[in-house]
Amino acid sequence: MQNSSIPSQPKFSSIIHGHWRLRAWNLSSQELITLVSQALELGISTIDQADIYGDYSCEAILGEALAIQPGLRKDLQLVSKCGIKLMSEKFPDRQIKYYDYSKKYIIQSVENSLSNLNTDYLDVLLLHRPSPFFNAEEVAETFTELKQSGKVLHFGVSNFLPHQMDLLNAFLRDPLVTNQVEISPFCLDYFQNGTVEMMQKNQVRPMAWSPLAGGKLMNPTDEKGNRIFKSLQEVAHELHEESIEKVVYAWLMKHPSNILPVVGTGKIERLKLAVEAQELEMSLEQWFKIYVAGLGNSLP
Ligand SMILES: NC(=O)c1ccc[n+]([C@@H]2O[C@H](COP(=O)([O-])OP(=O)(O)OC[C@H]3O[C@@H](n4cnc5c(N)ncnc54)[C@H](OP(=O)(O)O)[C@@H]3O)[C@@H](O)[C@H]2O)c1
Repeated sequence: MQNSSIPSQPKFSSIIHGHWRLRAWNLSSQELITLVSQALELGISTIDQADIYGDYSCEAILGEALAIQPGLRKDLQLVSKCGIKLMSEKFPDRQIKYYDYSKKYIIQSVENSLSNLNTDYLDVLLLHRPSPFFNAEEVAETFTELKQSGKVLHFGVSNFLPHQMDLLNAFLRDPLVTNQVEISPFCLDYFQNGTVEMMQKNQVRPMAWSPLAGGKLMNPTDEKGNRIFKSLQEVAHELHEESIEKVVYAWLMKHPSNILPVVGTGKIERLKLAVEAQELEMSLEQWFKIYVAGLGNSLP
């Protein structure tokens, strides 16, 4: 389908490596270089970061590794985010958590990200969360300036609803290239609130954060978790597949919106399962078995 509003797409690997938990992985720079290099060998070249991850520390942890091995940068797509002002000892004057999408703050945040990551450019900048105080015209001007300076190649959003994407897109020369939202069998909201459909219409791929519900899917602790786990076990059994994780990733990637799972593990063997899941094919009935388990009731 041809449409003039289709954005020029950045390259994303089919599996994205999420670095939210990077500080907790407790890796030396050398160990992180090894992890990033091994992930690259698996075809995982896109890394998801944010200014605030690890209390404003994760970008710099990656940046230190990239400074030691600068050759890695050209093979990676670095995604980072801005807009949330966290309560942190690093900002002792801040009294509450809030969002800031002023031109001044976005530019300052990008400059910090570039410096922390030891890079000249971000492949993609995402606005981390929608804000009730949002000047789309000012944000669009800021994006133009960042693009013209070469500091950011593409722009997207995260946790936005369709009307919030529409508002920003109305002011942009180049439409948003993604919306990173929570999607998993545990969180079906974005299949139900029009977001996934809107992205299909705009021909941009959703990024799915917490695809394993932050690990909850693997170690269920409540009735909903147990119900989903049982459906995943059933489908895994039917597919002669040992790994429940692979079934979850295959479920996400089967969807026609071409979902990009943002995988949050620090373990290379678990990243490998996500890559292998691309080969796992489930039937539509199996897809719905997992969906209905997440929903908690049968379809109307
Ligand atoms: N845009 C947003 O608002 C937003 C919000 C949240 C997250 N994100 C992004 O999404 C990424 C992924 O989020 P996530 O980390 O919550 O994703 P996830 O992949 O759902 O969860 C990762 C967690 O699950 C654990 N895990 C994986 N396999 C497991 C298994 N078989 N058994 C037990 N535990 C297992 C991992 O531990 P191990 O490390 O030990 O494998 C890790 O603690 C983040 O890194 C971040 O980049 C974005």
